[in-house]
Amino acid sequence: MSVDDKNFKLSVDIDEITLRNPTMLASGILGISQSIFERLYDENIGGIVTKSISVEPMKGYPNPTLIPLSGGSYLNAVGLSNPGVNAFSEELSQNKNIPIFISLVGSSEKDFAKMIKVFDSLNIIGYEINLSCPHVSKMGMEVGDDPEAVSKIVSTVRKNTKKPISVKVGVGSVDVIELARTAIDAGANIITAINTLRAMSIDVETMMPILSNRIGGLSGTAIKPIGIRCVYEISKNLKVPVIGCGGISTWQDVVEYMLAGASAVQIGSVLGSAGPRIFNSITKDLKKYIERKGIMKISEIVGIAHKY
Ligand SMILES: Cc1cc2nc3c(=O)[nH]c(=O)nc-3n(C[C@H](O)[C@H](O)[C@H](O)COP(=O)(O)O)c2cc1C
Repeated sequence: MSVDDKNFKLSVDIDEITLRNPTMLASGILGISQSIFERLYDENIGGIVTKSISVEPMKGYPNPTLIPLSGGSYLNAVGLSNPGVNAFSEELSQNKNIPIFISLVGSSEKDFAKMIKVFDSLNIIGYEINLSCPHVSKMGMEVGDDPEAVSKIVSTVRKNTKKPISVKVGVGSVDVIELARTAIDAGANIITAINTLRAMSIDVETMMPILSNRIGGLSGTAIKPIGIRCVYEISKNLKVPVIGCGGISTWQDVVEYMLAGASAVQIGSVLGSAGPRIFNSITKDLKKYIERKGIMKISEIVGIAHKY
């Protein structure tokens, strides 16, 4: 992909992929419509990760599925609602030049093989395998917590595509470095860290759990230090590009993730309050930051915190 001059200083390489800047859309946030992807691309987003897609359409959980908490954090249990592989491949069939990762979710290696067969001829840059959604049974983290299943799924995806594969890890019962190592040994090229963290909230008046699923995933500001720690540990211990995610709402948060070792970052919850324009304002501020610091390319800051 060509990187225009305007974006040269911000361009980043992740495995064999070049993005015009390090900002990406996190999975599950505005992630199922090509027209929204185009709107985000007009706002100078670097890349997109779609909503996690399963073989069959999924309805998700009844409301309430999303609760805003104080200070820019959220609790959600949407239940991976998505249109399924066939409808979604139709939606993406018009994509020409937007760098899109398709996020995949499934219960077995067969599910993933079926989806790759449908998606692999589309104009996309790679796949993100969701092994970390903390609130859907037999999918996401329930798979991610089983190293044998992780190995089988990632090696099946590897056999079925030549495109780069990122595995999205979270904080479950398996150590995040070990989970990332298992994924890389099975053929993953990139690690995305982290997903939401298993959490819940109870209404003191009704005395009931607020989410219809009772348990959900915590995202936003509160999880940023955990995301930073995971990116730091994975990138320090394993030779693999890492995409950082969790609690980013400012350009300083992007810089912090990159100093911890992220080659690029994904932004999710803050879009609910800030809207798509945040990508334009963050990338402008990142450019000012590297110019002020006398840095030629933003990728030079990746992992600097490891030196200390
Ligand atoms: C409403 C909602 C839906 C999400 N859906 C998905 C999903 O389908 N697949 C996935 O891998 N992550 C999903 N996530 C997790 C985000 O991609 C991201 O990892 C997490 O929210 C942390 O980033 P943030 O703090 O910037 O939101 C979802 C998060 C939210 C808030």
